[in-house]
Amino acid sequence: MELPFAESWKIKMVEPITKSTREQREEWIKEAGYNVFGLKADQVYIDCLTDSGTGAMSDRQWSAMMMGDESYAGARSFFELKDAIEKITGFKYVIPTHQGRAAENVLFSALVHEGDYVPGNSHFDTTKGHIEFRKAHAVDCTIDEAKDTQKELPFKGNVDPEKLEKVLEQHADKVPFIIVTVTNNTAGGQPVSMANLREVRKIADKYGKRIVLDSARFAENAYFIKKREPGYQDKTIKEICKEMFSLADGMTMSAKKDGLVNMGGFIATRWEDWYEAAKAFVIPFEGYLTYGGMNGRDMAALAVGLDENTEFDTLVTRIHQLELLASLLDEYGIPYQRPIGGHAVFIDALRVLPQIPKNEFPAQTLTIELYKEAGIRGCEIGYILADRDPVTRENRFSGNDFVRLCIPRRVYTDNHIRVIAAALKNVYDRRDEIKRGVEIEWEAELMRHFTVKLKPLQ
Ligand code: F0G
Repeated sequence: MELPFAESWKIKMVEPITKSTREQREEWIKEAGYNVFGLKADQVYIDCLTDSGTGAMSDRQWSAMMMGDESYAGARSFFELKDAIEKITGFKYVIPTHQGRAAENVLFSALVHEGDYVPGNSHFDTTKGHIEFRKAHAVDCTIDEAKDTQKELPFKGNVDPEKLEKVLEQHADKVPFIIVTVTNNTAGGQPVSMANLREVRKIADKYGKRIVLDSARFAENAYFIKKREPGYQDKTIKEICKEMFSLADGMTMSAKKDGLVNMGGFIATRWEDWYEAAKAFVIPFEGYLTYGGMNGRDMAALAVGLDENTEFDTLVTRIHQLELLASLLDEYGIPYQRPIGGHAVFIDALRVLPQIPKNEFPAQTLTIELYKEAGIRGCEIGYILADRDPVTRENRFSGNDFVRLCIPRRVYTDNHIRVIAAALKNVYDRRDEIKRGVEIEWEAELMRHFTVKLKPLQ
C-alpha cells in the first residue's frame, strides 16, 4: 500500500489554544466593533488573519539565535545572512530592515519621486502606499483573468505584457523600476511563471529599466514553477530561485513570510548604485548598515530560515495544507479564487452572499459570521480594504470581495485545517439566512480596514 502524505517535521514544542462559546464570541466581536483586528488573540481559536510573522521556527533556527552576534557594526550574523541571501539570489549587496515595508521605505526613498509611474502586478497595500506617499503612481498590470475567481490558470499572478508595455511607452522617462510581486498576494497568492518573468525582463531591457521582485513569498512561487511550468520538474527549488532572481535587479523582502521568522526583512540587489543610494536612507530610518532593523540573533535565524524554506520538503508540507483545504471546499461547493494559491484561500464572498449589496460589505459580513461560528479569524481583502477613491470619496466596488484565510507556516495540523473547512461549510449551508450586512460607523481616511468600526444591519 502506498504510504499516505505526512509532514516533513515532528513537533518539539506546543502552545495551547482555547475554544470559546458562541455567546462569548458574539460579545467579543461586538466589543471589537465588528472588526477582527480589534479582537484579542486569546479570543481566537484558529488564527488565519495572516501568514506574516506567525510561523514556527525550527530547532536549527532557535539554536542559531543563541549564536547571534549583537555587535553594532560588522556582526558575524550579518555576514551569515548576506551569504545565505547571495547563495539563493545571486545578489551581493544586502541591507537588513525590520520588515518588508521598511525595505520598501528605504529603497523607494532613494528611487521613487513625485510624478513617477511604478508598474507591477497587484502591488501590496504597503508597496502601493509607499509609492503613493511619494506622489507617484502604482499602475496595476496584472492579467485580467485574475479577476475571474472561477477561471483555472496555472499562473494567475502574471503581469500582462501589453499593459506593462503601454505604461512604458507612455511614461518611459518616469519609470524608476518595474515591481513584480511573487507570489501575487492580492490576486490570491497566485504565482508568476518563469516565462512571464522572462517576458517582463525583455520589455524592461527594451526600455532600459530595472526590475524589483517583491519577494515576500518567492519560495512558494518557485514551488509552483516546479509543479506547474514545463521544464522545471527536475530542478531544485534553489535552482529555480536562482533563475527567478537572475531575471531581476533587486528585491524587497518581508522575511516574516518565506524567511520563516517572526520579524525581519531586507533589500538585496546586484547594483552598487542602488546599494549606495539606499545606504543614505537605511541609517536614519532603520539602523547601521550591518543590522538595519534587526537583532543579530534574528539575522542568524533568518539565514537558516531562508535555507530551510528553499528546500522542497518544507514547501510541499506547507502547500499540502492549502491543497487539503481547497479539496474540502470543493467537496462542499464553496467558491474561492481558483486554483488555490500559496499561503491562503480567498473565499469569493460575492458568490457566497449574493443577497448582500456591495455597500453592506459581503466579505466583512462573512468574516464576522465565520468568527462567530467557530472562533476562526480570517480577514476581509475586499471593499473595506479598498478604501475610498481619494478624489470622489466614493467606496471602490470594482474589484473582488474576498475573505482571506491564511495558513501560518508549520503552526497548525491537518486537523485544524479540517475545522476551518467545516466551520465554513456550516456558515455556507445557512447562507440564505444571512439577510443583511454591516455599515460603517467610523473609519480612518486611509487604510481604514485596520481600525474601522462597524454596525450590523438588521
Ligand atoms: N509585500 C507583500 C507581497 C506582502 O504580502 C507584505 C505583507 C509586504 C510586502 C509588507 O511586508 O508586513 O513585513 O512590512 N503582507 C502581510 C499580509 C501583512 O498579511 O499579507 P511587512
